[in-house]
Amino acid sequence: NLRVGILTGGGDCPGLNAAIRSVAKTLMLTSNAEIIGIEDGFLGFIERRSRPISYQDCSGIFALGGTIIGTCNRADPFNYNGRDCSSEVKAYYDQLQLDALVIIGGDGTLSIGYELSKLGLNVVGVPKTIDNDLMCTERTFGFDTAVSIVTDAIDRLRTTGQSHKRIMIVETMGRNAGWIALHAGVAGGADSILIPEYPYDIQRVAKACTERMGSHHFSIVVVAEGARPVNGRVSVRENIAGSPEPSRLGGIGEQLKVQLGQFMDAEIRATTLGHIQRGGSPTSFDRIFATNLGSYAAKLVESKQFNRAVIQKGNRLSHVALESVANKTRNVPADDLTLQTAIAMGICFGTPNL
Ligand code: F6P
Repeated sequence: NLRVGILTGGGDCPGLNAAIRSVAKTLMLTSNAEIIGIEDGFLGFIERRSRPISYQDCSGIFALGGTIIGTCNRADPFNYNGRDCSSEVKAYYDQLQLDALVIIGGDGTLSIGYELSKLGLNVVGVPKTIDNDLMCTERTFGFDTAVSIVTDAIDRLRTTGQSHKRIMIVETMGRNAGWIALHAGVAGGADSILIPEYPYDIQRVAKACTERMGSHHFSIVVVAEGARPVNGRVSVRENIAGSPEPSRLGGIGEQLKVQLGQFMDAEIRATTLGHIQRGGSPTSFDRIFATNLGSYAAKLVESKQFNRAVIQKGNRLSHVALESVANKTRNVPADDLTLQTAIAMGICFGTPNL
């Protein structure tokens, strides 16, 4: 019988359990495979922790957030506390008598998978991240859920912002890409969307907010955590007399609040949504998408197509060399439909940084 390991690595995201379930159930039903869950990402390999996953274990988990086998984003076997543990990972893979390992992860996790494949592990990669910033694939699961959580937050911030006649800044996750901010900003009817791909001119943002305050008496600004002003990072400490210590200054949302405050005397509040964007139940889209990806990965294992990553383009799934998705990220391209729409509607502005 086939023995297949499953590992989830890096930051969690909604849809991981749906993917685990479909990898496992597909392999069990079509190949009578035994499934081994590696616990807490690559840490489980390093610390030799795993457990069998039964058909029953996979029942009813598709709607659960997080990952039933745990994850960890500080356990690179090639550099674990300064030590190369990759041969130990290979030894544990052999000890478990695995025929293949399905790795569900983002660019960092998949690139570790690629390096391990060079040591002889049979790896199949499944891309995931709320950031939607992986190469070769148009979508990653987790993104739709994050966008819907941020959209809901914007809807809520609008009613309180409107009541108090305030400027409400919403900081989203997304690392160095603006996908979440752009999509949730458009879905939530934001007045200004600031993304890393288009460094912003603070005076333009202030002008847009001032005009909006004049006409509607409130404004919503969505800023991606990776967004920066045109001239690089503005040091908030330089802008606040008797500034507090840096740890109290917060991220770009808080910085933007201070920057905007220099140009207008409106009340401004900043909300950082943080890990809420990664928690809880996946949307129906992410459940279906993760299920399709997982089942496709299982078929790659069954047909012995190793060291490949599943990708999605249009309405089709296919696969590419793991190497093509390893350690590379994808920003919002200039010709992205939603970006073009946002620019045309005057809600996303800045100087292209691509
Ligand atoms: O990659 C997913 C992500 O949530 C990013 O959007 C964010 O920058 C990062 O992970 C946060 O990482 P951590 O959970 O380690 O704080």
